[in-house]
Amino acid sequence: MTLRPVALAAALIAASIPLAAPALAQDAIDRKVDALLKQMTLQEKVGQLHQLSGAEATGPEAAKRASQNTEIRAGNVGSMLNIKGAKDTREAQALALQSRLKIPLLFGLDVIHGYKTVFPVPIGEAASWDLEAIEQSAQVAAREAASAGIHWTFAPMVDIGRDPRWGRVMEGAGEDTYLGSKIAAARVRGFQGPKLGATDRVMATAKHFAAYGAAVAGRDYNAVDMSLQQLYEVYLPPFKASVDAGVATFMNSFNTLNGVPATGSAFLQRDILKGAWKYKGFVVSDWASVKEMVLHGYAKDLPDAAVKAINAGSDMDMEGEAYIAHLAQAVKDGKVAQKHVDDAVRRILRKKFEMGLFDDPYRFSDAQREQAVLADPRHRAIARDVARKSLVLLKNDKINGNAILPLAKNAKSIAVIGPLADSRRDLEGGWVVSDVRGEVVSILDGIRNHAQGAQISHAAACAPGCATAEGFDAAVAAAAKADVIVLAVGETWDMSGEAKSRTDIGLPGQQTELFRRLKATGKPVVAVLFAGRPMIFNEIADNADAILYAWFPGSEGGNAVADVLFGDYNPSAKLPATFPRNLGQIPISYAQYNTGRPVTSEKDIVYRSAYIDSPNTPRYAFGHGKSYTEFGYSGVQLDRTILRPGQTATLSFELQNKGKVAGTEIAQLYIRDTVASVVRPVKELKGFTKVHLQPGERRRVTFTIDRDTLSFFNGDLKWGAEPGEFKLMVGSASDDIRLETTLHLQ
Ligand code: BGC
Repeated sequence: MTLRPVALAAALIAASIPLAAPALAQDAIDRKVDALLKQMTLQEKVGQLHQLSGAEATGPEAAKRASQNTEIRAGNVGSMLNIKGAKDTREAQALALQSRLKIPLLFGLDVIHGYKTVFPVPIGEAASWDLEAIEQSAQVAAREAASAGIHWTFAPMVDIGRDPRWGRVMEGAGEDTYLGSKIAAARVRGFQGPKLGATDRVMATAKHFAAYGAAVAGRDYNAVDMSLQQLYEVYLPPFKASVDAGVATFMNSFNTLNGVPATGSAFLQRDILKGAWKYKGFVVSDWASVKEMVLHGYAKDLPDAAVKAINAGSDMDMEGEAYIAHLAQAVKDGKVAQKHVDDAVRRILRKKFEMGLFDDPYRFSDAQREQAVLADPRHRAIARDVARKSLVLLKNDKINGNAILPLAKNAKSIAVIGPLADSRRDLEGGWVVSDVRGEVVSILDGIRNHAQGAQISHAAACAPGCATAEGFDAAVAAAAKADVIVLAVGETWDMSGEAKSRTDIGLPGQQTELFRRLKATGKPVVAVLFAGRPMIFNEIADNADAILYAWFPGSEGGNAVADVLFGDYNPSAKLPATFPRNLGQIPISYAQYNTGRPVTSEKDIVYRSAYIDSPNTPRYAFGHGKSYTEFGYSGVQLDRTILRPGQTATLSFELQNKGKVAGTEIAQLYIRDTVASVVRPVKELKGFTKVHLQPGERRRVTFTIDRDTLSFFNGDLKWGAEPGEFKLMVGSASDDIRLETTLHLQ
């Protein structure tokens, strides 16, 4: 099957006939905002800072809904989340238009990896290292959501995650700052398009500001304690990249950072974001994070929390009870300057103007468009393309000289075994906003679609989670009759994501035992693993014949996995995060420091920075991922060995496809600053490129290096490069460096 995603994306734009918001210059918008602000009472201003979650219209929540409606009509609500669909958003908007000033509501929703068409979870997409594909995925999600009345998604999550116990690594782009920054910008572009206000795009949110990914011990919502240098160098850049890409909004975070809740941090929100970065969008709190400052022990009560949050630069109170109840009084009491409230309101109104909502508050809520867009079959084709680009081939052993994958299309019999083999809901992963699990292609469906001549047997062996082994005998008996076993195991969809931290990131339940039993049949076992995080699965890593890491691949997951298993797509993905051997190695990243006692040989670890019971090296390194072909790297050249001020250097090398099938390699550039005023990591990713080569084809690949590539935050938190020697390393993974050279900075 040939997919042409770029052409498809262009066709999407042409077909959707999006309405652009009327083109108003920024100063014209500012004048309108000021004029409106002048008419607003203090209470109406505070209303704009209040965001409420929608509730069901019937059942026990009906009373809440009725009181919300009253609040909206009174002008006490600026935005709602968790309301969707052209009809429901239209109804809620109509209430806002009954308020005195008729200021339209903004509708926000967590459109994290698709609205109706489910794409791979974000960490899976990140494994594609394919910025164009990631942008398209966000574009499709935006197009579907915007057709259903949504103005604003709470994505992308740009938190760096180096602790796979933390369930929310699923929502991000992995461990690396450089890759994470590129992906953050791609997602913002995909969601928002070139200019806010088109009816097939939505506003994006860079979240969670900041350092949420570094929660102590990987426990969600936990405290964060880190040096400012780590903060500036590792955790902030993806946020800065989002600002540079024009992200409309920011969301702050639940955690404390060095003792201060991010929601109450003027350092983060006023000094860095709105100060140094000159950010003009608005900051929404995380869910009730203003109120939670009381529990943190940072605010004495709700009124105090409201004062501390607004003074620190949190503009909108999500599902908040603090601002709406206490802010007006705090202004009257002189605890909050009027200018802080005005600034927050201005930022929010500006976005409402930019989205064209004052011209037509219903422009996103069009039932006809909703129906047409949500039925667009092209979205599925794009989802399949992104999904197969996200599948990481971790292992592919040879049996009698032949690699186990790809499977022959004319394979006689395949046993498709495991609790996730015919699961639909699990393939979607967390943060799914439409219930469309019936439309998901399972692994079994995908294999059946591909291997139509083969005899396919199937046994779940146990339910997702695999608590009991009762079904194992039957599954093993079925498997023993087949030529090859495809084993689909992993986390269930709800084992990663928010509030899903785990102290054991192994395969849940009895799934390793199931593998052991299947392996004992002597038949080759291809393990397809599903998860929202790096897992630890040493027994499978050692003994499976092939391993495909599928993350949660989305609506088209089964087809995408089968595309790879049968060789219709040659896998190209690379891990965006390190896979540890054991829990004791966590937190772990390739970008570590050398220490004064580095391990240079596993045989010599005494009084070295080592473990006595485990190697330091991970199970699978950042950047690892195999292909059905082999790539050769040779002929490294540097056009200059000394880099003087104002110059750039070009590193080039020859990449060759040495195998028999076409394939795509993601070549990676790492640097090491060998001596600096602050010690530098042993490797830092500074470039990557995705190259498609026919069998035997060679291509010269280049990376450009400038002063910025060599810069870092020094001890005074100043960005700059220090003269000296830099090692440049090019390779296929962070632990598979093929070429090295040296550059001197003057
Ligand atoms: C999460 C956010 C999310 C918000 C709204 C919070 O619990 O931390 O990421 O956007 O809920 O659903």
